Amino acid sequence: MQEKITTLLAEIENFRAENKEQVEAFRIQLLSKKGAVSLLFDDFRNVPAAEKKAIGQQLNVLKNAAQEKINALKEQFDNSTEQSHTDIDLTLPGEPYPLGSRHPISLVREQILNIFSRLGFSLAEGPEVEDDWHNFSALNFAENHPARDMQDTFFISDNYALRTHTSSIQVRVMESRKPPMRILAPGRVYRKEAISARAHCFFHQLEGFYINTDVSFADLKQTLYYFVQEFFGKDTKIRFRPSYFPFTEPSAEMDISCNICGGSGCGVCKHSGWVEILGCGMIDPAVLDNCKIDSNKFKGFAFGMGIERITMLKYQVKDLRLFSENDQRFLRQFEGEV
Ligand code: DAH
Repeated sequence: MQEKITTLLAEIENFRAENKEQVEAFRIQLLSKKGAVSLLFDDFRNVPAAEKKAIGQQLNVLKNAAQEKINALKEQFDNSTEQSHTDIDLTLPGEPYPLGSRHPISLVREQILNIFSRLGFSLAEGPEVEDDWHNFSALNFAENHPARDMQDTFFISDNYALRTHTSSIQVRVMESRKPPMRILAPGRVYRKEAISARAHCFFHQLEGFYINTDVSFADLKQTLYYFVQEFFGKDTKIRFRPSYFPFTEPSAEMDISCNICGGSGCGVCKHSGWVEILGCGMIDPAVLDNCKIDSNKFKGFAFGMGIERITMLKYQVKDLRLFSENDQRFLRQFEGEV
């Protein structure tokens, strides 16, 4: 008996538990009805009377030791689960999902399309790999025009190149539809340029044109004026400078009063008060005829602008390369813009 008590005491002393379940199993093993300690109490009747007092005391010590150990362990595990509950502060706000942002070029393209759609313009698209006819010949480019040179254009074969402008979409639409038509054609274009803050080998353009029986330069001016006022603000002024494009006659370039300094002169407008934003003109009758539209009956105006350029002016972006480098620090600044 004595021996059993000593072994059990040592066992109790050395017992380690990893969880509540192990503590409970240990309790059953010792203190349940058939547990080791309870069995010793059952045996107590057989202890000789002379030893009863001493053994009885030891049995009580053993029982208490078991009970105390089990209580201590239980408490420890109860506390530790309580602890982990209190570690969570349910009143804290959740972690927000980061908001994505639209690319500035997409944003501005949408904004421009929106404005022109209010004037009745609808959308058209065309292929980025384009043949000579749609990119050059139908648009009156002379055989020896520099844009046809390998130096300026990414040729794929004799007859195919990456389109150098969205004017090629003009040709495709004019060939396939009957006037009247008011079309906007955005897209990516390619040129063999060295990449710098002001030039890139690919960028985005947006072409617009209107063909009907009675279209004048005044219509072109008023259309573009409406766009500029909607896009850059009511105070923005416009001016036209004579220019040359093979596919328009007369041709012009349009400037707006500098939206940074309001026209008083700054670094962006090179202290002139004006910045160029697009090329335009009346569609050359030869181009209409090339596309099987009767130039005796129909007239049209057209314009083409660089979306990067418009975006740079609107958001004061100084380096064209930012648009294609996917730098999150740049792109995140457009979060929430629509
Ligand atoms: N295609 C011209 C360019 O890439 C831009 C342009 C100028 C388009 C005048 C037009 C236009 O439709 O009428 O530089």
